[in-house]
Amino acid sequence: MFQQEERLFQIWYPDSFVRIIGADSILTTLGSSHKHFRNLVLRIFGPENLRRAMIHEVQRTAQASLLSWLDHPSIELKDAVSNMIFSVTAKKLISYDSSTSNEEMWKHYDAFIRGLVAFPLYIPGTAFYKCMQGRRSVMKMLKELLDERTKATHRRENIDFIDVLIEELEKDTMSENAALDLVFLLLFASFETTSSAITAVLRFLTDNPKALQELTEEHDYIRKRKVDSNSEITWEEYKSMKFTSHVIHEALRLANIAPVMFRKATEDVRIKGYAIPKGSKIMICPSTVHLNPVNTDEPAGGASKDFMAFGGGLRLCVGADFAKLQMAIFLHCVVTKYRYQLQH
Ligand code: HEM
Repeated sequence: MFQQEERLFQIWYPDSFVRIIGADSILTTLGSSHKHFRNLVLRIFGPENLRRAMIHEVQRTAQASLLSWLDHPSIELKDAVSNMIFSVTAKKLISYDSSTSNEEMWKHYDAFIRGLVAFPLYIPGTAFYKCMQGRRSVMKMLKELLDERTKATHRRENIDFIDVLIEELEKDTMSENAALDLVFLLLFASFETTSSAITAVLRFLTDNPKALQELTEEHDYIRKRKVDSNSEITWEEYKSMKFTSHVIHEALRLANIAPVMFRKATEDVRIKGYAIPKGSKIMICPSTVHLNPVNTDEPAGGASKDFMAFGGGLRLCVGADFAKLQMAIFLHCVVTKYRYQLQH
């Protein structure tokens, strides 16, 4: 299905979900506009910018967060990691600064996430209602930010994604709604998923001391070979983390962070003796492949037909490299400098 995107099958999400993510979201956009949106996102989260800028920012934030956790007897890992990731990505997207902001945006996203997979009943008090209110508040803040920036006359030194979008709006290559929906989705997609992934990987490592041991050896080796053991991880060192990369893929295979994806058939399709009539809605469940014992003798490698944590084809997650970078750097900082313990 992924390989046949925009041919035999096409992305489709239920109406209630589209109401939440926005009618002009990248997920509802097709053809050349979709490609264009992806290219815009890659200007911030593509390999070139990851290598040049993001690797440093991810490291600085990981180190600062870990250090701040030392003051607490225990932490709620998922929340703490979400906060850490939000501060890296929201800074790149909208120059959000958690130290000067009053945390309002973070709060609205929290309400939004709670209702994301709720029964779509739009009545005050329901999770879906709160979710829509959360979306409305974030969208309002984003719109105010966009207006403010569009009016500003001086050029800013550090360009963020809002600046990229303003350029596009001036060229008339996208609508304002599409621009706002795109930032909205990116803010959500980038921190909720990766924070779950980091939480899952630490949990799995706690249950697998042998894997934790091998992971620690890989990172100690990298650290010992450095002239200054406290200097930052380079891109080449990151790329040499082979075992880490397997650990990350294996955690993603087991965690199934995006539990379902939706498509519709745009033609009558016959496959392995089954008939899928044109117009059928299809729910793809990665866990049925990821947890199938026939496929899992070997830990998952790169993208393959047996590994779809990031989807596939034209719609392959555009933030996959960024997510993996954040996971690897975080793991490096944890295993070389800290010890942790699960608390029940
Ligand atoms: C471990 C972390 C992540 C997981 C498991 C994940 C998973 C996915 C999956 C499964 C899809 C495909 C949806 C579909 O085909 O219907 C997707 C798409 C997408 N992801 Fe991620 N994602 C992660 C991190 C990120 C990050 C960090 C970003 C932000 C840069 C991001 C931005 C997007 C966007 C914009 C799309 C839509 C791509 C398109 O329609 O062409 N994701 N993600």
